[in-house]
Amino acid sequence: MVAIIFSVQLLLLLFGLLITSHGQLLPITHHHANDMQIYIIDVERHQHHDVLSDEDLESWHASFLPNSTLDSGVPRLLYSYRHVLSGFSARLTSGELESIKSKPGFVGAQRSQRHHVETTYTPGYLGVTKINGWGGTMMGEGAIIGVIDTGVKPTHPSFNDSMIPSAPPKSKWKGNCTYKGFTCNKKIIGAKAFQGGTNPSPLDTEGHGTHVASIAAGSFVGNANVLGTASGVASGMAPMAHLSIYKVCFPKAGCDSPDIYAGIDQAIKDGVDVINMSISGGRNATFYEDAVSRGSMGAIQKNIIPVAAAGNKGANPITLDHSAPWVLTVGASTTDRKILSFVELGDGKTFHGESAYQPKTWNSSAQFPLEFPGSNGNANSRFCVASAMAKLNLKGKIVLCELGLGNNAEMGDAVYKAGAEGMIVLGYSTRGYTTRSFADVLPASSVNFKAKIAIVNYYLTNKPNATATFRFNGTRFGFIPSPAAASISSRGPSRMNGGLIKPDVLAPGINILAAWPKGVGPNPSPLATHTFNFVSGTSMAAPHVSGIAALVRKKQLGWTASEIISSIVTTANDSWTARSPDDIIADEFSNKTAGIFTTGAGMVRPVKALDPGLVFKLTVDNYVGYLCGLGYTDAEIFKTLGQKKNCSAIIHLNSKDLNYPSIAVNLTRSVTSQKVMRTAKNVGNAKEEYIPKIVQPAGVDIFLSPDRLKFTRTDQEISYEMRFDMKGSYPSKGSAMIRRGKIVWDSGKHVVTTPIALTFA
Ligand SMILES: *[C@@H]1O[C@H](CO)[C@@H](O)[C@H](O)[C@H]1NC(C)=O
Ligand SMILES: *[C@@H]1O[C@H](CO)[C@@H](O)[C@H](O)[C@H]1NC(C)=O
Ligand SMILES: *[C@@H]1O[C@H](CO)[C@@H](O)[C@H](O)[C@H]1NC(C)=O
Ligand SMILES: *[C@@H]1O[C@H](CO)[C@@H](O)[C@H](O)[C@H]1NC(C)=O
Ligand SMILES: *[C@@H]1O[C@H](CO)[C@@H](O)[C@H](O)[C@H]1NC(C)=O
Ligand SMILES: *[C@@H]1O[C@H](CO)[C@@H](O)[C@H](O)[C@H]1NC(C)=O
Ligand SMILES: *[C@@H]1O[C@H](CO)[C@@H](O)[C@H](O)[C@H]1NC(C)=O
Ligand SMILES: *[C@@H]1O[C@H](CO)[C@@H](O)[C@H](O)[C@H]1NC(C)=O
Ligand SMILES: *[C@@H]1O[C@H](CO)[C@@H](O)[C@H](O)[C@H]1NC(C)=O
Ligand SMILES: *[C@@H]1O[C@H](CO)[C@@H](O)[C@H](O)[C@H]1NC(C)=O
Ligand SMILES: *[C@@H]1O[C@H](CO)[C@@H](O)[C@H](O)[C@H]1NC(C)=O
Ligand SMILES: *[C@@H]1O[C@H](CO)[C@@H](O)[C@H](O)[C@H]1NC(C)=O
Repeated sequence: MVAIIFSVQLLLLLFGLLITSHGQLLPITHHHANDMQIYIIDVERHQHHDVLSDEDLESWHASFLPNSTLDSGVPRLLYSYRHVLSGFSARLTSGELESIKSKPGFVGAQRSQRHHVETTYTPGYLGVTKINGWGGTMMGEGAIIGVIDTGVKPTHPSFNDSMIPSAPPKSKWKGNCTYKGFTCNKKIIGAKAFQGGTNPSPLDTEGHGTHVASIAAGSFVGNANVLGTASGVASGMAPMAHLSIYKVCFPKAGCDSPDIYAGIDQAIKDGVDVINMSISGGRNATFYEDAVSRGSMGAIQKNIIPVAAAGNKGANPITLDHSAPWVLTVGASTTDRKILSFVELGDGKTFHGESAYQPKTWNSSAQFPLEFPGSNGNANSRFCVASAMAKLNLKGKIVLCELGLGNNAEMGDAVYKAGAEGMIVLGYSTRGYTTRSFADVLPASSVNFKAKIAIVNYYLTNKPNATATFRFNGTRFGFIPSPAAASISSRGPSRMNGGLIKPDVLAPGINILAAWPKGVGPNPSPLATHTFNFVSGTSMAAPHVSGIAALVRKKQLGWTASEIISSIVTTANDSWTARSPDDIIADEFSNKTAGIFTTGAGMVRPVKALDPGLVFKLTVDNYVGYLCGLGYTDAEIFKTLGQKKNCSAIIHLNSKDLNYPSIAVNLTRSVTSQKVMRTAKNVGNAKEEYIPKIVQPAGVDIFLSPDRLKFTRTDQEISYEMRFDMKGSYPSKGSAMIRRGKIVWDSGKHVVTTPIALTFA
C-alpha cells in the first residue's frame, strides 16, 4: 500500500494522490450485528494524556464505546494503551464500530490481527555461538530485557538467580510478578500475560519463549546438552542481565495484535531497556499495521531498543517482516557446528545429515530396507502424516519423509507406530544446503535438498531392493562456509520502507542450544528440569542481539537507542572465517556469496559494538520526515507515532537521506548520479581522524566530500556527502541489478563500516 518515492520532484507530483489513497481507513469488512470482532481504535491523544491516571485514561477511552456495549455482559474494552499507541482495543459489532467512527476524536480502526512466533517447526541441533566476548561489560549486569513471547518456565536452571544482583530500585523498575504458581526471582524480575483482555499465567508450556529468554540472558548452566550431545556450559548473551516476561502468544492461538500492543505497552511502563520481539509480521503491512513496528515506535520514543526477527520465509527475496528503521531487524546465520548422522545407502554412497538422537545400540553394519511412502504421489504419504502411515506396515524399515507439513517429532511418531526402525527427513528446495539437528524420537537423519534428490533417485532405481543405514558421528565443528546466511532467514528488499537495507545484521539462529521447559527425544520425562533443546529460526538470532544491545546499554549509559542500533550495525563483519577478508558471507541456500539484502551489515560483533568510534544518530523527528517522504499522511503518521505531526511543515526525507547506519541508493537509465548525506558523531577519543577505504559496487564510482573526518572533540558531528556515479552504461539485461559495496572509515583505533546496496532500478 505504501508508494515508493523515487525523488523529491516525483513526490511533489504524487503527494495529492497519496493523500487520498493513504487517508482512507483500513478496509474493515462488515459483519452481522451478532458477529463481534476485536478492533484496535486510534483516537486523538487526550490533552492531559501524560498526567491522567490509568483509571482516568481508561474511562476516557471507554467514553468512545457506544452505550449498547456497556451492559451487554461481555467485557468490551480489552486494553487501554498509554505508550504504544493513542487508543484502545475493544470487542465491537460492525454497527457499534460505525457509531464510534462518528465520534469526535476518532482517528482510525483496524481489525485484530494474528501473528505467530518465529520458529521453523524444526527443533534443531546446536551451533553454539563463540561470541563470548564480554570484555568490560559486566555481562549486562543491571540491564533489563523485555521478552514478548510465549512466556517462560521460571524454574529452569537457566534462570537461576544465585549470581544475579537484586532488581533495580522502584524509581527505575516498576514491573512485578503476582501469579499463583509462578515465582519471579532476581533473574526474572517481572512477568505478565495478556490474552483478550485477561491476564492468565505467564508460564511457558510451548518452549519458544523459554528458549528465547535464555538465549538473551540465561545464567550459566553446566552440563547443558540435548540427549547427551553438544554438552557444555550454556549461557545467554547477557548472563548477568534481568529478564521481564510478557506472554502474548499462546499454543495453537498464536499472538493477537491487541495482546502484543498490551505487552509492549506494559514493558515500556515497567521500564525495560531492550524489547525483544519474536513475532511474525506482514511483509506488505504499513508500519502502523504491523504490531511490532508500531509497538517499537512507542518503545524508541522512550529510548528503549526494539529488536525483532526478520522472519523465517527465506530463501526468496522480498520476504522480510518488520522493516522500519526504528527496529533493529535480525536475520539468522549458521555456525560451524553439526550433530552428524550420516546416511549410508546400499550402494555405498554416503550423505551428510543431522540428528541429536544418536543411540549407541544402532548397528551401522546392518542395512535396512528403504521405503518411500510418498512415491505414490499422495501428499499425506510424502509428508508422513499419521493417518497415512497408520495404514502401512513399515516394520524393520527406514522410511523417507519429506519436510513440509509436520515436524520431525510428528513424522517420527507416525512412522515409529507403523513399525519403522528409522527415518530420513528430506529437505525441500528453498532450504538449499540446510541440514538441521533434532531431538528425534527414533534413529534418524535430516538431509539437505541435494541429498534428497540423490536418495530418492537411488530408491526409485533400486526398489524394492533399496537399503540404507545410519552412521552416527556426534558433535563436529569446523564446517564451512561459516557463518552462512541461513536459507530460512527472510530477505529484503522491503517494498514498505523505501529501500533501506534490511535485515540490519545477522546473528546465530540455526541449531541453537538453549533452555526448554519439557523433555525431548524418544522417552521425554514429564518431570525433566534440566532440559535443553536445539531450535532454529530468526527467533533464535534476535535474542542474541537483544543481549548485545543490553551489554552496550550498560557500557554506554548516555547513548540513545538509535546510537546503539548504529553501533551494532557499523561494527558487524560481512566476511567469514578462515578465508580472505574479501570473502563475503555465503548463502546457505546456494552455497554462493550472499546478497546485501540477505546479510545486511553481516555478523554482529559484540565486543566491537561496545566501542564503535562513530555513530549515526536519529531522532523521532527524523523518522517523521522519512515517513512524510514515504508519502504517509498526517493521519497515518498519527497512527504510527501516537502523536500529531504536520507533514506540510516538515522537511520530507528521501529514504536514502535518513541518517541510517547503512546506505541504499538507486541509479536508473535517466538518474545516473545520486548524492547521499550522512552525519557522523564522534563517540571515540576527542582527537581522531578517519580515513576511508571505499569498496565500490561494480559499475559505480563513489566520491566523498570531505574525504577525511577529522574530529577534535567528543560528541562532535561532521556531515559529509557521497556521490554515486554510474560508470559506463546501464547494466545489460541478465546482470545482477543489486550490488554490494561499503565505505570503511578507519582511524587506526576504530573501524566504522557503512554497508551499501546499489540498485540499478
Ligand atoms: C448514551 O450515553 C449518553 C451520555 O452518557 C446519554 O446522553 C445518552 O442518553 C445514552 N443513550 C442511550 C441510548 O442510552
Ligand atoms: C542455583 O545455582 C547455585 C550455584 O550454582 C546452586 O547452589 C543452587 O542450588 C541453584 N539453585 C537452584 C534453584 O537450582
Ligand atoms: C504490580 O503491577 C501492577 C501494574 O502492572 C500494579 O497494579 C500492582 O499494584 C503491582 N503489584 C504490586 C504488588 O506491586
Ligand atoms: C505482497 O504483495 C505482493 C505484490 O503485491 C504480492 O505478490 C504478495 O503475494 C503479497 N504478499 C503477502 C504475504 O501478502
Ligand atoms: C550388525 O549387523 C551385521 C550385518 O547384518 C551383523 O553381521 C552383526 O552381527 C550385527 N551386529 C550386532 C552386534 O548385532
Ligand atoms: C531386486 O532383487 C531381486 C533378487 O535379488 C532381483 O531379482 C531384482 O532384479 C532386483 N530388482 C532391482 C530393481 O534391482
Ligand atoms: C566421524 O567421522 C569421521 C570422518 O568420517 C571419522 O574420522 C570419525 O572417526 C567419526 N567419528 C565417530 C565418533 O564416528
Ligand atoms: C529503488 O527502487 C526500488 C524499485 O525498483 C524501490 O522499491 C526502492 O525503494 C528504491 N530505493 C531507494 C533507496 O530509493
Ligand atoms: C527477540 O525477538 C526475536 C524476533 O523478533 C525473537 O525471535 C526472539 O524470540 C526474541 N527474543 C527474546 C529474548 O525475546
Ligand atoms: C571478520 O570475521 C572473520 C572470521 O571470523 C575474521 O577472519 C575477520 O578478520 C573479520 N573481519 C574484521 C574486519 O574484523
Ligand atoms: C560450499 O562451498 C565451499 C567453498 O566455498 C566448499 O568448501 C563446500 O564444500 C561447499 N559445500 C557444499 C555442501 O557443497
Ligand atoms: C500544517 O502546516 C502548514 C504549513 O506550515 C500550515 O499551513 C497548516 O495550517 C498546518 N496544518 C495543521 C493542521 O496544523
